[in-house]
Amino acid sequence: MALLYEKRDRIAYFTINRPEAYNAMDPETLQELSQALIDFRDDDGVWVGIITGAGDKAFCAGADIKTMLPYMREVVKGETWREPPTPMRGLELWKPMIAAVNGVALGGGTEIALACDIRIAAENARFGQPEVKLGIIPGWGGTQRLPRHIPYAIAAQMILTGEPISAQDAYRVGLVNEVVPLPQLMATAEKWANKILEVGPLAARAGKEAMLMGTSMTLEEGLRYELMLFDNCISHTEDAQEGINAFIEKRKPQWRAK
Ligand code: CAA
Repeated sequence: MALLYEKRDRIAYFTINRPEAYNAMDPETLQELSQALIDFRDDDGVWVGIITGAGDKAFCAGADIKTMLPYMREVVKGETWREPPTPMRGLELWKPMIAAVNGVALGGGTEIALACDIRIAAENARFGQPEVKLGIIPGWGGTQRLPRHIPYAIAAQMILTGEPISAQDAYRVGLVNEVVPLPQLMATAEKWANKILEVGPLAARAGKEAMLMGTSMTLEEGLRYELMLFDNCISHTEDAQEGINAFIEKRKPQWRAK
């Protein structure tokens, strides 16, 4: 399998498994990733996702230049509905996603990480958008998400020169939440996942949806969107009642994602 997909203790694990090609995404891997992400979205038993790459060199070297780029040129041809939906483009996934970046994240690799909410980098990680070196531009959201996540000058540096930045520089500019030695990467990602599992799962999803939808709204529209989600949480979820009761009764809440 080019994509390993496992579920344990409310966490879904996605491992891009093409280490011989630096975990570059060919059309089959993208299809498998899309199906796994849809399963994760729809499975009430899993609340947080962690995505990583197989091996100790690469998170993902982007679209497979030998197979994916020809597929995009000859099959997709700009008709994006032909491409399986992913959070990079088209799949609305409000469950929190963590990228455990275990090596190079180039092109689509950086874009997969950008489509996650929390990014943990191993010390050997590198982030880059080298597409311009191939005469193309990022196609899974890099031009849109990178300048929304980090200062424009650094995004422009990466997208216009194609040169990668180190894990430490990614931390410095706020692209990643934490940098750790490679052997501690998954444990650190799980620490973040477990932290998120302590909060109301529907609230975490609503918070993510409000942030992401709000980025392309005016402040007034965003505030209205937030109010709609706030009202839905407080008026229509059992979890909100449970969270408030648990605080008053000085106990841990028992979340049910209901
Ligand atoms: N596609 C296909 N194969 C890739 C690949 C990719 N993106 N990245 C690495 N590989 C393959 C190489 O072809 C090579 O295979 P062979 O052994 O069969 O020749 C193998 O992985 C090892 O690669 P290198 O010999 O180049 O190893 P290296 O250590 O010298 O360099 C690397 C590693 C820095 C990742 C380098 O391979 C590289 O720069 N890869 C290309 C990265 C890139 O340009 N990504 C953007 C793709 S376009 C895109 O992603 C568009 C989009 O937005 C969706």
